[in-house]
Amino acid sequence: MKIDLRSDTITKPTSQMLAAMMSAEVGDDVYKEDLSVNVLEEKIADMFGKDSALFFPSGSMANQAAIKLHTQPGEQLIADHYAHVYNYEGGGVSFNSGVSCKLLNGHRGMLTASQVKEAVNPPDFYHSPLTSLVCIENTTNKGGGACYDFEEIKKIKQVCNDHNLGYHLDGARLWNALVARGEKAKQYGEVFDTISVCLSKGLGAPIGSVLVGDAAIMEKAIRIRKILGGGMRQVGYLAAAGLYALEHHITRLAEDHRRAKEIGKVLENLHFVESVEPIDTNIIIFKINGDEMNFISKMATKNCHFYSMGQGKLRFVTHLDYTQEMHEYFLDILNNEYF
Ligand SMILES: Cc1ncc(COP(=O)(O)O)c(C=O)c1O
Repeated sequence: MKIDLRSDTITKPTSQMLAAMMSAEVGDDVYKEDLSVNVLEEKIADMFGKDSALFFPSGSMANQAAIKLHTQPGEQLIADHYAHVYNYEGGGVSFNSGVSCKLLNGHRGMLTASQVKEAVNPPDFYHSPLTSLVCIENTTNKGGGACYDFEEIKKIKQVCNDHNLGYHLDGARLWNALVARGEKAKQYGEVFDTISVCLSKGLGAPIGSVLVGDAAIMEKAIRIRKILGGGMRQVGYLAAAGLYALEHHITRLAEDHRRAKEIGKVLENLHFVESVEPIDTNIIIFKINGDEMNFISKMATKNCHFYSMGQGKLRFVTHLDYTQEMHEYFLDILNNEYF
């Protein structure tokens, strides 16, 4: 049995999802004539209580478009030092928008309002870049699937209002936070100017992200998407996968979270595990005593695969294709193999 816990992005469409894709009604989405894309965009805008939504091929492109929408070249955004937009989007912030990042040392990838307030450059001090955007992530990827306290999210919004800053949420795994904390998409829509969500992580669609926002900002989003090369034609086949995922794969994220916590419990009792970070959702980050690359290779001989995060940290991510049968087999390996 192959256990692949490298990421929740490795999932393949289920047969039911494939059937939904095959029967999708499609059209040319660059002309906004793709019925399935239009339905998906309307549905997600409605979930978040926003005017408008736009389908993107990737979370990176949706985030990069949002940054472009909120900033002008030479300006600065505020983000955590773990932020995906800074670490894993190929330097797109500077390449696409000509913007610098002020990176803050948050807790597990999460910022506080007072940290953000401290980091805003005084707008009349023309020697510094003008701060124009705060970008936070929920759940955090490099922070181990951590979920923000919504009260803190609202306090950060207050700082944004006080300083006239845009507020963008990288919600690649927002679905996990909604399920883990029993929150509603609408409460996020009320606070953020723009939100990107991914359909291709925990929800198991093969591709696709959606950016939501109010009409004034989203009117410009379609041009930015075109510039970035993200205008696609009969893409309703992919939107149909997203629609299927929204209907069938959100509540089941609780199973991924339960399995992640069970793995964490086993890790805590293993002699070679030095520490396990708190597990809020589907990401498990831990440190072992000894050489982690050696552990990765030994586990690979048992057909169990996962990544190192660097700095001695290892990561498992549970997901739709990690079944209960695989889970029991994997716990058995962890418990009974000698490493
Ligand atoms: C927090 C976060 N944001 C954005 C992305 C980008 O998504 P994509 O791989 O679709 O570009 C990822 C991908 O893993 C992510 O973890």
